[in-house]
Amino acid sequence: MGRFVGRQLSTMKALFALIAAALPLVSASGSVFSAVSVNGVDQGHAVGVRVPTANTAVTNVNSADLTCNKNFIQPVSQAVISVPAGSQVTAQFHKTAAGYLGPDPSEPLDPTNKGPVVAWLASVPSATQTNVSGLKWFKIWQSGLNSETGQWASDALYVNKGNVTFPVPSCLPNGDYLLRVEYIGLEYATSYPGAQFFMSCAQIHISGSDGTNASPSTVSIPGAYAPSDMVLDSLVGIDSYTIPGPDVFTC
Ligand SMILES: *[C@@H]1O[C@H](CO)[C@@H](O)[C@H](O)[C@H]1NC(C)=O
Ligand SMILES: *[C@@H]1O[C@H](CO)[C@@H](O)[C@H](O)[C@H]1NC(C)=O
Repeated sequence: MGRFVGRQLSTMKALFALIAAALPLVSASGSVFSAVSVNGVDQGHAVGVRVPTANTAVTNVNSADLTCNKNFIQPVSQAVISVPAGSQVTAQFHKTAAGYLGPDPSEPLDPTNKGPVVAWLASVPSATQTNVSGLKWFKIWQSGLNSETGQWASDALYVNKGNVTFPVPSCLPNGDYLLRVEYIGLEYATSYPGAQFFMSCAQIHISGSDGTNASPSTVSIPGAYAPSDMVLDSLVGIDSYTIPGPDVFTC
């Protein structure tokens, strides 16, 4: 009896895995960057963040949607989050839906998600400006595959219930910036388009810079990733992964 049930369960598991593999685009595993904490203080869901109404991934690396996503929860927050230079910022990834305004208590990510998390900044005249084309972006943090533990940044995101925390450089000029945080799902990246980008932009103002006024070298988004950058032969058995795009800026 027990053995019979066990066999039925493993058949169901195999079937489920097949269904999941056959339906990558309706995968329920997506979640988006939808809230910010500064030095551990939660700023609120969709406050100062342009949160898309769907968990759908962008897969075209040349799409304008790759910059800051699209179809935002309305009205888009006009808040600008105050970020002291050098502080620890947490990007919170949650499920999203049209009109949805509360924190989602369910696990924001699926443990089968595998891929890196990257945080970017672009200096802007006004953090609430709607036009995000032509901005100059630089990476401030990234995490991919830990070769020793085999843990992906996405695994850490899952364990931390959607929170990823990184420092904001202390040497940048004070002013308004857009903070773009993306999770890249590589489960379907064996061909292009396959890699799934989940990203949003937060509206921040950095103050208290150390006065160095560093000027990082920048790239465009779209433009930072080429289709060929996003193709992986296999996720199985790899023990290192080079995150595409430029190097991370450090002070
Ligand atoms: C957005 O900004 C870019 C770069 O400054 C500019 O070329 C473009 O015309 C602007 N688009 C709109 C709709 O204002
Ligand atoms: C994630 O961040 C939120 C807001 O700062 C916090 O309330 C929550 O405890 C964090 N969760 C974990 C698992 O760290």
